[in-house]
Amino acid sequence: MLTALFRQKTGNTPGVKNPIDIAPSLTVPVIGFYGGQDQGIPQTDVAKIRLDHDLSQGIGQALIDVPGITFAPKGLQPERLTPVTLGVVANVSGTVSGKGRIDWGAQGVTSSGSFGTERLDLAAAFGPVTGLKGQINFTDLLGLVSAPHQEATVAEINPGVAVTNGVVHYQLTGQSRVRVEDAMWPFAGGTLRLDPSELRLPPERKDWAPLGILAYSKICTHAGCALGLYRKPMFPPVEPSPALVCPCHYSTFDVADGGNVLFGPAGRALPQLPLMIDRRGRLRAGGNFSGPVGPSWWGVRKKPAVSPGDNS
Ligand code: FES
Repeated sequence: MLTALFRQKTGNTPGVKNPIDIAPSLTVPVIGFYGGQDQGIPQTDVAKIRLDHDLSQGIGQALIDVPGITFAPKGLQPERLTPVTLGVVANVSGTVSGKGRIDWGAQGVTSSGSFGTERLDLAAAFGPVTGLKGQINFTDLLGLVSAPHQEATVAEINPGVAVTNGVVHYQLTGQSRVRVEDAMWPFAGGTLRLDPSELRLPPERKDWAPLGILAYSKICTHAGCALGLYRKPMFPPVEPSPALVCPCHYSTFDVADGGNVLFGPAGRALPQLPLMIDRRGRLRAGGNFSGPVGPSWWGVRKKPAVSPGDNS
């Protein structure tokens, strides 16, 4: 954590052993830094932080100025600053700069900030990303929550086949989640668009939804009706997440979470079909369904998953 890396920039006032004992307020400039002899890499300052605390009222603030943090695959990585990026991005290369603030008092702690990059390369769960550029406005800097409708441009993203010059609108929703609001790329003579989605697939399925495209069996796992309804939130911040709904007895399956049952009598998740994009840019099945297709009777649970070419 960055808090463990602070060092005080200037010493205490000469002759004052413990300023907290005598001062009605406290102002301490500190520097967040990374590296040092113990880590075997040169020490690098990453942030200038001014701490102000009013001892009589118990309120204070920290003003954070990041003139430029440079990430490199064998140097500083985001998870050294905040663990919430661990497993989300890796091999980050590029520079991030911006300002933030943290306020505290009787009402609690709030934080905000704005950070941006002119170019960032990284490895994400869906593939390598190069030339990421944009500014992000945090409404909760400590929780990594952003305002909606953040925009980033991407020079190239490669989940199996390279697509270039993308524009993505998104929101960080905390707990390492990204809600993609929309995304567009020029692709195969047309335009590739992503619908709003917030994927929470199990780790072993991280590459089953290239560019956010998902596929599930259409046969309800309750009694075999065809899933004919799709619940799409009109205002995602307050409405239930996207789901497939069976019209027979209203079993509802979470498309973002591997087809898990959200509601209704279905006793098991909807089988998911892994997808891939081949070298010619065609969307294809990447393997078998995650489980047997069909209603949960006649022993279907004991049957192996069917091949993608079967009618299901
Ligand atoms: S068959 Fe789908 S909920 Fe019963």
